[in-house]
Amino acid sequence: MQLTEAQLYEALRTVIDPDLRQNIVEAGLVKGLAWNAQEQKVVVSVQLTTPACPLKGYFSAQITEAIQQVVGKGWRVEVSFTAQTVGSALETLPQVKNMILVGSGKGGVGKSTVAANLAVALARLGARAGLLDADIYGPSVPILLGIEHAKPSVREKDGRPYLVPIRKYGIEIMSLGLLVPPGQATPWRGPMASNTLKQLLTETDWGELDYLIVDMPPGTGDIQITLAQQFRPQGAIIVTTPQKLSYADAEKALMMFRMPLVQVPIIGVIENMSYFWTPELPERKFYIFGEKGGQMLAQQYGVPFLGEIPLLESVVQRSDSGIPAALEEGTPIARAFEQIASETVRIVSRLALTSVV
Ligand SMILES: Nc1ncnc2c1ncn2[C@@H]1O[C@H](COP(=O)(O)OP(=O)(O)O)[C@@H](O)[C@H]1O
Ligand SMILES: [Mg+2]
Repeated sequence: MQLTEAQLYEALRTVIDPDLRQNIVEAGLVKGLAWNAQEQKVVVSVQLTTPACPLKGYFSAQITEAIQQVVGKGWRVEVSFTAQTVGSALETLPQVKNMILVGSGKGGVGKSTVAANLAVALARLGARAGLLDADIYGPSVPILLGIEHAKPSVREKDGRPYLVPIRKYGIEIMSLGLLVPPGQATPWRGPMASNTLKQLLTETDWGELDYLIVDMPPGTGDIQITLAQQFRPQGAIIVTTPQKLSYADAEKALMMFRMPLVQVPIIGVIENMSYFWTPELPERKFYIFGEKGGQMLAQQYGVPFLGEIPLLESVVQRSDSGIPAALEEGTPIARAFEQIASETVRIVSRLALTSVV
């Protein structure tokens, strides 16, 4: 029997991308197909919508099975992946494919911790990730990532000077905290604060990024609205703790992103400090702040719940010593961040694909 390309494509049409809800041929993900009857080998090249795609294993298994249905189990199926991150590159930031805001109405809920660890987790999944500390009143990213003594250099590009982000843990980092001496007050108000932030964002040479995570200042004011309007981020993530007070503030932040003049899609809700966990009692989860506030918020507003992050003593120690918890392989917290990062890229790809007309 002569094997034909049509037969193989027919087989590939049975493999469904669960996010796009389309088969991979129709979705345009199959970029190459070749076979060698003598070596009994089929090679399929698949283009993913993000290098951080959590579905690589799933696609490999499904494609192998579908092809072997045609050629027989004796053949080898090789699936190779390339990635072209979908996103709407911004005129003002052409090298950034997706800008993701991490916000909440309240300070101290762990926004910066979540933003930094999310960026690190995205890089570990294979994406080019950056982190902008937009909390210009209280920048904490330099300490969180242990770069408080780093000084960004300046390089010329097209005749203009740009700040060079600090690279650590596989991500590109910029914060106003790196430019002003630690402890110095930053008494900016309204428009001045927005302009400072805008400048920090556009005058940094980020390089090509799949995701730029923005650690937002607390609140729902001028900075948040200006950033949303002028940069059209791909989406926002809301961080909350299970407490009632945090819930109300997170709700405000969520509603701000939905305002007609803002309109930033909500990627989802993350619940931080969900329960206390200690390695001495690994089977127990202590819900000291109440339970499921984050899930309830997500449910109430019909947005995805991205996951819960335990309250851990090691997070505090790690933050103070500049090592993100997401790096600690195999721990519940690293797993939580990996899962949240996977879920985030799936939702962002979907948002990018549906907003491109
Ligand atoms: N999951 C967690 N477990 C333990 N401590 C945490 C956790 N998340 C945040 N923290 C700690 O809580 C404090 C506030 O976190 P931070 O990320 O700075 O909040 P925000 O940016 O919302 O103000 C920090 O000391 C941080 O180390
Ligand atoms: Mg913060």
